[in-house]
Amino acid sequence: MRFRAFVVDKTGDDVGRTVTELEDADLPDGEVLIDVAYSGVNYKDGLASVANGQVARTYPLVPGVDLAGTVIDSNEPTIGTGTHVVVHGHDVGVARHGGFAERARVPAEWVVPLPQGLTPLQAMIVGTAGYTAALSVMALETAGLRHDSGPVVVTGATGGVGSTAVTILAARGYHVVASTGKANQADWLVTLGAAEVIDRISEDSGRPLLSERWAGAVDCVGGVTLAEVLKAVSSGGSVAASGLTGGAKLSTTVLPFILRGVNLLGIDSVQNTLAERIEVWNRIAGDLRPEKLLAADPVVVGLDGLPDALDNVLAGGMVGRTVVDPKLRI
Ligand SMILES: NC(=O)c1ccc[n+]([C@@H]2O[C@H](COP(=O)([O-])OP(=O)(O)OC[C@H]3O[C@@H](n4cnc5c(N)ncnc54)[C@H](OP(=O)(O)O)[C@@H]3O)[C@@H](O)[C@H]2O)c1
Repeated sequence: MRFRAFVVDKTGDDVGRTVTELEDADLPDGEVLIDVAYSGVNYKDGLASVANGQVARTYPLVPGVDLAGTVIDSNEPTIGTGTHVVVHGHDVGVARHGGFAERARVPAEWVVPLPQGLTPLQAMIVGTAGYTAALSVMALETAGLRHDSGPVVVTGATGGVGSTAVTILAARGYHVVASTGKANQADWLVTLGAAEVIDRISEDSGRPLLSERWAGAVDCVGGVTLAEVLKAVSSGGSVAASGLTGGAKLSTTVLPFILRGVNLLGIDSVQNTLAERIEVWNRIAGDLRPEKLLAADPVVVGLDGLPDALDNVLAGGMVGRTVVDPKLRI
């Protein structure tokens, strides 16, 4: 069967982006064929669609690191046709075709049946970004963070990881400080539950330690931001680090670690096992549910709207999640 897809391809040093038609035979191997209801626009998708993004590992490529939809064919007895599923991470959208198409085929062990209480649209409002936010909160709490430990800062607060982290933490009773470069989104961050909204933490203070300010942090920005956050974490506090929108280089001293026992927790959503994914998605549908984010209307674009959406994510312009409906003709 023929279906529409957003394809990036490399010619020389240039990467071109087109909406075209593919056939089932163009899809990679796998036990499960999925009718894609929604995908999401992630920072990584932006990188996968430009030259020197250093993310795409094959061309031509259908990007889209996450997708949700309905199983239409399955060689795996435990995953029946008609099942609503979510798939993200592994090689999806970077080393094999991903979610920016009406159909996707994946190995059975990558497929998470959607837990009760989450629709495919809600799963993609959460998406890889929200899953990463949930992982971050889980890691912080495993390291000892509690709602009464003190203020928790969330950097890149208006983006996918950040806005979901703000929502989850606030709903769990934390005093959330949202750090953002978009002052005009402060009211929205307060609506999600932020107790305070501050500017981006992007200036190097030049000092090895700062006053203890944060009991914990969810950082998806990296670079100078992560270094500055580490300097201001209270004794025994933790930082969950997942991203690099502000830079991949981390320049720090050992002082936060050896004088304050600060924990730097690495967050990776890509390589999680199926059992880990099922656990995290069940918690997203349950006690980590980002209800205030799910209650709002998401921005929805079709495949033709992807070039603008991908440029926006790379420019740091994202506010919440942008969801892709591959059947939408706009
Ligand atoms: N480790 C994992 O498994 C994993 C999974 C998902 C995502 N990630 C990573 O996490 C990061 C965020 O992903 P996302 O999907 O949430 O992206 P996103 O929606 O684009 O959000 C990123 C946010 O970072 C802030 N930002 C952008 N450029 C910045 C800069 N130069 N300096 C400081 N802040 C900047 C912006 O927030 P403000 O304007 O509010 O400051 C932006 O909205 C990306 O690096 C992504 O690759 C990692």
